Amino acid sequence: MTTSTAATAATRRFPEREARVVVVVQQKGGAGKTTIAINTAACAGRSAVQSPGDSPSPVVAIGIDVQASLEKWCAGVREDALPFDYLVTKGKVGLLANVVDDPERRRIIIDTPGFLDVDPDAEWGSDPLGESRTADALREVLDLADLAIVPITPSAITWDEAEFTIERILKPRHIPFLMVINMHDPGKDKQEVQLDKVKAWIDERNYPRVSDPIRRYTIHENAYENGTLVTEYKLSGTALKAREDFMRVALTMEQML
Ligand SMILES: Nc1ncnc2c1ncn2[C@@H]1O[C@H](COP(=O)(O)OP(=O)(O)OP(=O)(O)O)[C@@H](O)[C@H]1O
Ligand SMILES: [Mg+2]
Repeated sequence: MTTSTAATAATRRFPEREARVVVVVQQKGGAGKTTIAINTAACAGRSAVQSPGDSPSPVVAIGIDVQASLEKWCAGVREDALPFDYLVTKGKVGLLANVVDDPERRRIIIDTPGFLDVDPDAEWGSDPLGESRTADALREVLDLADLAIVPITPSAITWDEAEFTIERILKPRHIPFLMVINMHDPGKDKQEVQLDKVKAWIDERNYPRVSDPIRRYTIHENAYENGTLVTEYKLSGTALKAREDFMRVALTMEQML
């Protein structure tokens, strides 16, 4: 027992901190970062240990993109259906330390913007993020991260950027990461040919991944407009399957923290 506790402590980047910080990051836009950040925060918030009193939620979702998409989504959610606190920084640095160091916070999940504007000539080992407001905001959250979640889609359009994110951004910083396949279409890819291809691509590189994908469902597409979280989905039919996919991601994430 002692050995395993020591091993866990040794692998933690910030053993002195109560909160674990998870950053959802992928260079390519549209792979599902915001959807995954909000919904894993919802799953974590709904699974949090309830303690009496007026203590703040142990889970905080943070968005750092200038568009503040996380705020727009959360603002549309019924207050009693929002199981986490949220904060948006719009790319401003210096606002996160208070939240991250707060001993009442346990899980902090950060949504980041895509960042295609990197220096293509940056040498291996040097930081390719370059100089911009987004780059500074990204560097700040990467410095705080215990774990990164990297979404990838069955369509190969996101694969190069997933590899770039891992090899050039996460590995040089020694940030543990977990890949999640998003938008597997169970109707169109019935034989799971495309799904097996992306799984093989990930496994060839020895990247850790969530066992099963997040499936593509229309209910997710409307969630932003409707102000819904997976934790509010119906407990039957497709909605239940859609919710289960995110619960699985949240559980796998917990095992890595
Ligand atoms: N599993 C899914 N099923 C159906 N639609 C999805 C799924 N995941 C994401 N989407 C939809 O795909 C679009 C892109 O998702 P999202 O905004 O989460 O990506 P993103 O990585 O945050 O993009 P950006 O880099 O632009 O911030 C959104 O319209 C979202 O509703
Ligand atoms: Mg987004």
